[in-house]
Amino acid sequence: MFNYCLFNNQIQTIATASIGLSDLGLLRGYGIFDFLPVVNGQPIFVDDYIQRFTSSASQMNLEVGYSNDEIKTMIAKVISSNEMESGYMRLLLTGGYSDNGFSPSGQTNIMILPVALVNYPSTYYSDGVKLLSTEYIREFPQIKSINYVKVLLEQKRLKQEGAQDVLFTLNGKISESSRSNFFIINADGELQTSETGVLAGITRKKVLEIASKIMPVSVKDITLDDLGQAKEAFLTSTTKGVMPVAQVDDLQIGIDSGFPICKELQTSFLKLVQSYQEALI
Ligand SMILES: Cc1ncc(COP(=O)(O)O)c(C=O)c1O
Repeated sequence: MFNYCLFNNQIQTIATASIGLSDLGLLRGYGIFDFLPVVNGQPIFVDDYIQRFTSSASQMNLEVGYSNDEIKTMIAKVISSNEMESGYMRLLLTGGYSDNGFSPSGQTNIMILPVALVNYPSTYYSDGVKLLSTEYIREFPQIKSINYVKVLLEQKRLKQEGAQDVLFTLNGKISESSRSNFFIINADGELQTSETGVLAGITRKKVLEIASKIMPVSVKDITLDDLGQAKEAFLTSTTKGVMPVAQVDDLQIGIDSGFPICKELQTSFLKLVQSYQEALI
């Protein structure tokens, strides 16, 4: 359990920290966030995450109000206040208080919150997960906005169908999952991930770097036809790492093979995280 967060650079107790009712994040869904791992008390790939956070902010016309180094110092402060060993850090930036409930004042609110480790069932890694396709594309795919309404609306259907997440598709093109990027090993044995309509995932970036040293890689939009021919499919995200996808709707993918390439990339990704963390000590 973590007890402390930062609100506009002031340490506050999570249980009592609160935001005013005229914040545009609450009233208009105007806000962005980012979410990074903490391992052995160290933020991992922190420069990549802060760079994406500031890029989301500027694309949304939101002032961060702090330099990248100041944000790093703030993250370190939340880690030390909570004596945090492992978990995640949520960086949240909202539109700030508005007199008329619409016009931004220019003064944003920034929050840095510790989050407990997410532990997925080990069967998700050994047997793969099931996704349901849904016709949708995020409004501003390159921005990590706070709007996750589409997948929240799908929760009941996911539960009924025994699926773990959705796969966003539009006119036969696959973009990403609700909180993960999507990859396939295509019919030619190439690793492929969609180019457009996706968030620039940090795990995606690291997996592409690892994979490009050991196999052919192509960043181009995946179609549902490509998926039908795929040898393997998997998700990447900060909480999941590299997680095999065994089924999309009624289509089963790579189950007989046991997802060897996905597992190799998962092992290499975990090694990269470990070596990054060891280099900090
Ligand atoms: C829409 C979306 N796509 C992809 C990702 C994966 O990005 P990352 O690897 O940086 O966690 C996320 C992460 O939450 C996401 O929200």
